Amino acid sequence: MIDAATKDTLCRLAREAARNAYAPYSHFKVGAAILGEGGKIYTGCNVENASYSLTICAERNAATTMAADGERRIAAVAIFGGASAGDAAPCGACRQFLLEFADPELRAPVFLVGGDGSVLETNLKELCPYPFRSFVPNDEA
Ligand code: THU
Repeated sequence: MIDAATKDTLCRLAREAARNAYAPYSHFKVGAAILGEGGKIYTGCNVENASYSLTICAERNAATTMAADGERRIAAVAIFGGASAGDAAPCGACRQFLLEFADPELRAPVFLVGGDGSVLETNLKELCPYPFRSFVPNDEA
């Protein structure tokens, strides 16, 4: 369970992270903050590239920072972007990436924060209703 103060902190850090976004092509700045189960918060922003497809989203940037610190479990996520809550809902690639470090029930809350301060609360289960996670080899199929 994420308390109100932690939620506010995560949302604020996601907004602050967006300030460092490198988005000269889309001009759409996104920031993400991930609370690891160990209690630390990891932030990231989108970093674009002249070769557009090399762009890294804010969520994956934050998640790789988390993983590089040795944390393997997401407790909560906040994503800031756009004018109002939900404008920066994670793309499909980011949903899959976050899933890798999700709890088995996908209960981790995801707070979508808009420039107007509105917050939409969802979770990994809602964002990934039919998750592809670890697999069992099926060579015999
Ligand atoms: N973007 C993110 O950072 N996160 C998302 O989940 C959606 C898209 C970035 C990528 C690109 O730099 C810009 O937003 C426009 O697509």
